[in-house]
Amino acid sequence: MRAIVYDGSTTELIDGIELAAPGPRDVIVDVAAAGLCQSDLSFMAGLYPVPSPAVCGHEAAGVVSAVGEAVTHVKPGDHVVIATLAACGVCEPCGDGRPTACLSTLGRSRQPFTKGDDSFHTFAATSAFAEQTIVSDIQCVKIPKDVPLASAALVGCGVVTGVGAVMSRAKVQRGETAVVFGVGGVGLNVIQALRISGAKTIIAVDTVPEKEALARQFGATHFINGLDEDLVAQVGKIAPASEAADRGWFNSGGVDWAFDCVAHPDVTWNAFECLDWEGTVVVVGVASQTAEFRGLYTRLTQVERGIIGCRYGSISPHRDIPRIIELYRSGDLLLDELVTASYTVEDWESAVDDLRSGRAARGVITFT
Ligand SMILES: NC(=O)c1ccc[n+]([C@@H]2O[C@H](COP(=O)([O-])OP(=O)(O)OC[C@H]3O[C@@H](n4cnc5c(N)ncnc54)[C@H](O)[C@@H]3O)[C@@H](O)[C@H]2O)c1
Ligand SMILES: [Zn+2]
Ligand SMILES: [Zn+2]
Repeated sequence: MRAIVYDGSTTELIDGIELAAPGPRDVIVDVAAAGLCQSDLSFMAGLYPVPSPAVCGHEAAGVVSAVGEAVTHVKPGDHVVIATLAACGVCEPCGDGRPTACLSTLGRSRQPFTKGDDSFHTFAATSAFAEQTIVSDIQCVKIPKDVPLASAALVGCGVVTGVGAVMSRAKVQRGETAVVFGVGGVGLNVIQALRISGAKTIIAVDTVPEKEALARQFGATHFINGLDEDLVAQVGKIAPASEAADRGWFNSGGVDWAFDCVAHPDVTWNAFECLDWEGTVVVVGVASQTAEFRGLYTRLTQVERGIIGCRYGSISPHRDIPRIIELYRSGDLLLDELVTASYTVEDWESAVDDLRSGRAARGVITFT
C-alpha cells in the first residue's frame, strides 16, 4: 500500500508498504480521508522530538477492516473517527475522564509498517497518511454512516482541539468575550465553539485578510489583521471596561479569553495584552521545543489573569466526539464547510502548499 513517510529530513510517498497483523486490542482501519493539520507540517520540519522514519498524518476517519480478538466495541464495516490518544484506560486521569493527561499517550511509538528490511514508526499513534493504519481499540470512536468521512476526518484533531479548548478546557460561559489568534483548522473550531457557547463578542485575528469571510461564517463578530500594530488597542475598543475607561497599567478592558492558535512569542504577548482583568490566555498552538514566551508581571497577580496550555482540546474522545457529531447533525457545528479542498494522495504536496499559503480552512487527503 501507499503511505507518506517522513525519514527525519525529507517526506515522500512510498508504495509497497506492509502493515503488521492486529494484536488482541488493535484495530486496522481503511483510511477514507485524512486532514492536513499544521502539526503535520511541524513534524515534517523536524520540530517534534519523536522517532522517524514514520508514517505521517494524525487526523482521520475510515472504515474498520479488521479487529484483534479482544476488541468488542467496533467490528469490520463500522465507520470510525480515529482519536490520537492511545490512552491506557486504567490510570487516574483516564478514570477521571482526562485521557489527555494519561502518561501512556506521550512518547510511545511502535513500528507496525515495513517495506523489505525497513520499518517505520507511527506518528501521533495514528499514521493517517496511509491507505490502512493500525490503532488501539480505545482510539476508535464509532460514528453514524451518514456522516461524510471527509468531514468526520477533521474531528480527529482540528475539531476536537478547537471545540474542546473552548468547552472542556476554558469552559466559556454565555455572554463572555474572546479573541482568537489564527483562523486555521483549529481556530475556526474555537470560533464556532465560542458561538455555540453563547460568547457575546468573538474577535478573530489572522495575518491573511482572506480569512475574514471564513471567520465570520463560523461565528466571528469582528476581524482584525494580525499585522496591525494597534491590534491590542482595537481589541480594547471592541471590549472596553467602560466607555470612558483608560486601560491603565493593569490593563482594564479587553476580553475574558484569548485563544492562541499560532504559538509565536509575539502572538502570545498580544494575546496576554488583550485580556481584561481575570482573563485567561489558552495556548493551543504548538511551537518548536526551544521557543519561549514572555509577559509583564503587572498583568497577573492583582488582576487574576492566567495563561494555560491545552492538549487535544482536553477532551475525552468517547464522551466528546459523539457530542460533536450530534452538534453537526443538529446543524449547530459546521464540518462540511471546513473541507476547503480534497487531494489524492499522489497530490499531497499541493495540500501542503495550500496549507502554507494560509488560505485554506482544511485540506483533506484521500486514498481511493
Ligand atoms: N494543542 C493541540 O493539541 C493541537 C492540536 C492540533 C494543532 N495544534 C497546533 O495549533 C496550531 C494551529 O494549527 P492549524 O492546523 O489550525 O494551522 P493552520 O495553518 O490551519 O492555521 C494557522 C493560522 O494562523 C495564521 N497565522 C499565522 N501567523 C499568525 C499571526 N502572527 N497572527 C495571527 N494569525 C497568524 C495563519 O494565517 C493561519 O490562518 C499549530 O501550531 C498546530 O501545531 C495544536
Ligand atoms: Zn491512562
Ligand atoms: Zn492536528
